[in-house]
Amino acid sequence: MTHPPARIPGRRLLHAPGPTPLPDAVLHAMSAQPMDLADPRVDATIAACENGLKRLLRTTAADVFLYAANGHGAWEAVIENLAAIGECVLVPGTGHFSESWAVQTEACGRQVLRTPWREGWPIDAGAVEQALRDDKAHAIKAVFAVHTDTASGVTNDIAALRSAIDAARHPALLVADVVASLGAVPFAMDAWGVDVAVGASQKGLMCPPGVGCVAVNAAAFAVAERNASPRFYWDWVRRKSDLSYRKFCGTAPQNLLMGLEAALGLIFSEGLEAVWQRHAQLAGAVQAAVEGWREGGALDFFAQEATSRSLSVTTIAVSPGIDTDALRTVARERFQVAIAGGLGPLAGRAFRIGHLGDCNPAMILGAIAGVEAALETQGVPVGNGGTRRAVLSLAGR
Ligand SMILES: Cc1ncc(COP(=O)(O)O)c(C=O)c1O
Repeated sequence: MTHPPARIPGRRLLHAPGPTPLPDAVLHAMSAQPMDLADPRVDATIAACENGLKRLLRTTAADVFLYAANGHGAWEAVIENLAAIGECVLVPGTGHFSESWAVQTEACGRQVLRTPWREGWPIDAGAVEQALRDDKAHAIKAVFAVHTDTASGVTNDIAALRSAIDAARHPALLVADVVASLGAVPFAMDAWGVDVAVGASQKGLMCPPGVGCVAVNAAAFAVAERNASPRFYWDWVRRKSDLSYRKFCGTAPQNLLMGLEAALGLIFSEGLEAVWQRHAQLAGAVQAAVEGWREGGALDFFAQEATSRSLSVTTIAVSPGIDTDALRTVARERFQVAIAGGLGPLAGRAFRIGHLGDCNPAMILGAIAGVEAALETQGVPVGNGGTRRAVLSLAGR
C-alpha cells in the first residue's frame, strides 16, 4: 500500500460539504486556554453562541440548547425529547439524511412513518399533507424534515411543510434539520412556523465538528415536559438553566464554543444578506461548471429542478463505469482538492462539491479546475469543460 506524502506544498482545498475550512479567526479563538468553570467568561461565551444562533435562525421565540456532540447527537436530542418510546413521527423522504434520521429514530424505540423519497426531487408537501390527513387519531407527534439533504444536494421548502401540517389540521410539531443549510441560505424559524431547528458546527458555521444545537419553541418544550420516557443527557427540561454546568449536563466544550462565538461574529460582521448572496454566487459558479461538464454526456446534476439545487453543495451524478472513489483520490492526492462521494443509495453514482462556509471565488475556481483536471485524468468526457463557464459566471457574464 502506498502512503500519501506527509507534507503537501501549499494548501489543500477542502470542498467536502462539511467539515468545511476554518477561518483563521476561528482557529485563533480556539487556541485560548480553557477557563475554570466559575469564570464569568464561560457564561458570556455560551450566551454569545446562543444569541448568535437565535439571530441566524431568525427566532426570538425559541431557546437554544447546545451539545458537545455532532449532528447525530442533536438528532437524538430531538428524538428523545419529542416522542415517547413507541410513539410515531413522520419523516418525509429527502434521501440519505432523512433515511438516516428515520433509522436512528427507530433504533431509539420510536415508530417512523415515511413519505417516499423522489430521487432528485424535493419533498412532496402534498404527500406529507395526505399522510397527516390519514392520521385521524393524531398518532404522529412530529414531522422531521431535512432542509438541505447534503447527499442529494436538494434544498426543501420548509414553509410549505408548515402549510401542509396546517392544511391537514394536524397538531404535529415541525422539526427542521438545518445542519447543511444554516449560514448558507435564509432560514426563518418563527416566520416559517418551525417548532425545532437542529444544527451542527462543522458546515456553514465554519467550526470544527463537535457542537450540535437545537432551537426549541414553547410548544416543543411543552411536549418534552410531558414526555415521561427516560432520558438524561439529551433532556431539554434538565438543561434549561442559567448554570453552564446544567446547560451542558457537565463541562461545556469551551474551546469549540470560543470558535463558534468567533464564527458567528464573522457572519454578522459580513452581514447575513451578504453571506447568503456570496453562497448564491459561488453555487452559481459550480452549477455553471456542471452545465459545461454535462455536455460531455457522462455527468449531470442529481437535483432535477434548478430551483431546489442546494446553495451549499452540488451533487453530480456520473454515468455507470465511472469510478468515483478513484476520481476523488486523484482530485485529492494529485490536484489537492478534497471533494465528497455519493452517500447511501448514491454511493458510486455521484460525487459532490461543497461550496459553503468560509469560501470565496478563488477557492471555488481552484476547486472546479482541480476537479476538472481529475476528470480529464480519469478520461471522463467533460465537453468543452466547466472552468471557463465558472469564470464567466463569477464575472457576471
Ligand atoms: C443534513 C445533515 N443532517 C445531519 C447530519 C449528521 O451530522 P454529523 O455527521 O455531524 O453527525 C449531516 C452530516 O453531514 C447532514 O448533512
